[in-house]
Amino acid sequence: MATSTSLHVWILIPFELLYLLLLTVVVQFRSLIRLLIPSEPKSIQGEIILVTGGAKGIGRLVCHKLVEKEKNLTLVIWDVNEKATSETVLELKSLGVKNVYAFQVDVSQRAQVEKTARKVRAEIGESVKEEVRRYPSKPNISFTTIYPIGIPTDFIAGVNIDMDRYKFLNNMLTPEFVASEIVEGVLAGKEHIYIPRSARFIRYITDNMPSEVTRKLFDFVGVPMEL
Ligand SMILES: *[C@@H]1O[C@H](CO)[C@@H](O)[C@H](O)[C@H]1NC(C)=O
Ligand SMILES: *[C@@H]1O[C@H](CO)[C@@H](O)[C@H](O)[C@H]1NC(C)=O
Repeated sequence: MATSTSLHVWILIPFELLYLLLLTVVVQFRSLIRLLIPSEPKSIQGEIILVTGGAKGIGRLVCHKLVEKEKNLTLVIWDVNEKATSETVLELKSLGVKNVYAFQVDVSQRAQVEKTARKVRAEIGESVKEEVRRYPSKPNISFTTIYPIGIPTDFIAGVNIDMDRYKFLNNMLTPEFVASEIVEGVLAGKEHIYIPRSARFIRYITDNMPSEVTRKLFDFVGVPMEL
């Protein structure tokens, strides 16, 4: 019986690989089409949106921009900073958002994220990616991951991140611009958002090319030493 099972599996392999290959081609083609013909921004009316690090800086700007688009939504803010979180909650409520919930959490601490995720779910019926993956009946949740390059956050406060050669690149890295890109990407249903958009290309090069090419590219753009 065991032999026939494994034979069965062997026979399936070429078909499964072929299926995977076809799927890859279809998905690539679809994303190419989407790149050329951007889809209509999706409606976020009545949605529940969780913004990690949403109490300050870019996260806070993202909340504001979401609220500019739609007030009939539920915003959930995760942040380490308790004081900033309660201030942002009050601020968003005064702008007329239907529901705002806040949780203090350090997203870098997995155990704490899971604990908070359970708490969030208990209160508003939602969950987060890691938890969702383990459930067979997946709730309908979209995730967006941001890949920023040289974004002025608290992490690199005081560091010179101005590009030397192409000054216009510096305008692409203001918190305001970054927040707009994030919201636009979320509304377009993107799973990965690269900021600036060229970061996708830069990442491709740094991941796949010899490091000398990366260094030359950085010299070409004029990336300052500090980065
Ligand atoms: C808010 O959104 C929900 C879900 O889309 C909808 O059922 C409800 O009517 C909306 N409320 C208002 C005041 O527009
Ligand atoms: C999930 O939500 C999206 C956008 O709101 C919708 O288009 C899709 O049909 C939903 N899928 C399911 C399984 O409910």
